[in-house]
Amino acid sequence: MQFEELVEKLVHRMQEGTFIQGTISQPRYKSEGLQKVKLKPVEIKKEVHIQFEYHYERILKHENIKVADIQPALQQLLEQFKQMQAEFTDEKAHIQLTKKFKVSWKAEKATSTKTVDLSHNRKKNYLLDDATPYPFLIRLGVQSAEGKVKKQKYDKFRQINRFVEFIDDALVHLPKDRPVRILDFGSGKSYLTFALYHYLHIEKGLDIRVTGLDLKKEVIEECNVIAKDLGYDQLEFLVGDINDYNDETAVDMVVTLHACDVATDMALARAVKWGAEVILSVPCCQHELFSQVQSPALDVMLQHGLIKERFSALATDSIRAELLTLVGYDAQLLEFIDMEHTPKNILIRGFKTGKSPSAEAIGKYEAFRDLLNAKPFLERALKDAGYLS
Ligand SMILES: C[S@@+](CC[C@H](N)C(=O)[O-])C[C@H]1O[C@@H](n2cnc3c(N)ncnc32)[C@H](O)[C@@H]1O
Repeated sequence: MQFEELVEKLVHRMQEGTFIQGTISQPRYKSEGLQKVKLKPVEIKKEVHIQFEYHYERILKHENIKVADIQPALQQLLEQFKQMQAEFTDEKAHIQLTKKFKVSWKAEKATSTKTVDLSHNRKKNYLLDDATPYPFLIRLGVQSAEGKVKKQKYDKFRQINRFVEFIDDALVHLPKDRPVRILDFGSGKSYLTFALYHYLHIEKGLDIRVTGLDLKKEVIEECNVIAKDLGYDQLEFLVGDINDYNDETAVDMVVTLHACDVATDMALARAVKWGAEVILSVPCCQHELFSQVQSPALDVMLQHGLIKERFSALATDSIRAELLTLVGYDAQLLEFIDMEHTPKNILIRGFKTGKSPSAEAIGKYEAFRDLLNAKPFLERALKDAGYLS
């Protein structure tokens, strides 16, 4: 089979609706950094799209392309790889591309005909179902008494669901032989705190003890009343500043959702200090680096306020991930939620490895920091605590 025929065949199968999912792997050019791409059909605003999930070494990105316009993107992608596994309603294909783009297509017939279920694909993303009434979501005003998610709360519902998905993925890193200690810093109204308690304790039956911490006294009082009413006896809320919170010696998982500015850094520093196995943190507004960043080499970008703001935010999260790596975490920056729903769409994920950093990694970080003239809060906090020299 020729390369053009392969592209045509795949496009045809995607457009006729018999493509279930696929993975394109084995890059031809390692330098590109893209390791594999997963494809699946999804329905967005009543139109079928193919979702491309790009796997880089430490980053995951998504792109949805209308199935009607899929040809150029698919062709361009296949040109960069040597292998594809594709599942269709009637067969599974193992596709191999040679150096000279000759194609081998080996298919295995499906024992029974499978169906492409777009609604299932969508629903799978929601660990909390949007049609089931959950007492905590009703109390928090996200759902009506009948369990319908309120229109103005849908973004919040989507965010907590996505966060719970990340928590679910991290479960293998948490201890199984004792209660799991979890801290939610800057918990605010605590949609996430309640959701994770519900999911991990009520649905999964895990033995957990959860604390939400926030500066706002009234909000915390209200959260404690709700927790008590719901009988969530291993969930407590405390008033306090993250930076002064010293009540713990060991915590297994630290989460934050939109903790303002350097409050995220405070939480990351605490998590490192406690040796948390899992860190999941979606940062919020970032001001620290914006006021520091200065670099003649980047003037062309930084002269524009808007670019400077976005650049500072991205650089801040890159610095955070790098610092976590330097203190023994496998740190990744992942897409939290589609840009169309919130611009605050990066999640920092850290799994503890305890690995010491190489001199090269330290040098790379320092060069980046110095290029920007940055003096990151997190670096200072980690140095003060003796984790960095
Ligand atoms: C944007 S809200 C997010 C609340 C919640 N996590 C959510 O996503 O709904 C940020 C919260 O962080 C809290 N916060 C900011 N700095 C803090 C600090 N130093 N210590 C404790 N809480 C802090 C604020 O009071 C606020 O409730």
